[in-house]
Amino acid sequence: MVSMASSLTFQPVLERIAEDMERRPGRGRAADYIPALAAFDARRFGMAVAELDGTVYGVGEWRQPFSAQSITKVFTLALGLAREGDELWEHVGREPSGNPFNSLVQLEYENGIPRNPFINAGALVVTDRLHTRTGHAADTLLDFLRAESGNPDLTFDQGVADSETAHGDRNAALAHFMASYGNVDNPVPVLLDQYFRQCSIEASCADLALATGFLARHGVRADGTRLLTRSQAKQINAAMLTCGTYDAAGDFAHRVGLPGKSGVGGGIIAVVPGRCTLCVWSPGLDERGNSVAGVAALDLFTTLTGLSVF
Ligand code: DON
Repeated sequence: MVSMASSLTFQPVLERIAEDMERRPGRGRAADYIPALAAFDARRFGMAVAELDGTVYGVGEWRQPFSAQSITKVFTLALGLAREGDELWEHVGREPSGNPFNSLVQLEYENGIPRNPFINAGALVVTDRLHTRTGHAADTLLDFLRAESGNPDLTFDQGVADSETAHGDRNAALAHFMASYGNVDNPVPVLLDQYFRQCSIEASCADLALATGFLARHGVRADGTRLLTRSQAKQINAAMLTCGTYDAAGDFAHRVGLPGKSGVGGGIIAVVPGRCTLCVWSPGLDERGNSVAGVAALDLFTTLTGLSVF
């Protein structure tokens, strides 16, 4: 185990991980149900670690923007919870679903209340409620990510948003179904537009590791102001640990031992509360929609450093 006294840099650990990833064969397949994401080479790799004070270490393509996709669900949940408080939990649950991220099966049994905020159904509810409260959920999210990452150039990828809209039948079905239970406030086309924009945000490992910092700082933003109470930050970290990688959350906790959130663009963010945040990117996915090299790299990080919540 590498000693992680605060005077030590994460750089040698990241370099060792990148060397290890280079040697591994078979890296899964880029998401092809969103055609705009299918072209990425599954073997690309980048990883960043951000300390609480904003110092960032990186390796590989850690400054390369990629499609953040479901990673954004963490930030909309934080922004929604900050505005709405506990009432949000009356509209979305906090139990692992044990089902794929885009599954419809539990919604009817559970009266249109999604199991958790990270499956697509739950994220749609969170975005809908944030949109009602802010007038523009996706712009609110983008402003937040720009501020926390310190990168004013972050933006939506209209091509990816259009690609998802053109192939968005399943998300449309989820939204309409929940609307039939009264769990959607805005017109479904408006909600879908906001949700697809949200998912299309392009950011790098460095940007996303920095933007996740408030979860390692127990709710405090990069500028020192508080977004969430300590309890709310705990709630989000707990949801990431139990639901952030969908029906692979048990395996992710077993291997990595950190709150984490994946996206089908191949990114995964992770939090070491009180210590640092991570983001890894490699577009090759496993059958549950999580980056193969991303999970392996985080697994190796916690093994090498001993930094885990357990
Ligand atoms: O709605 C979708 O299907 C995508 N925009 C996001 C899914 C996703 O990233 C799931 N994460 N692994």
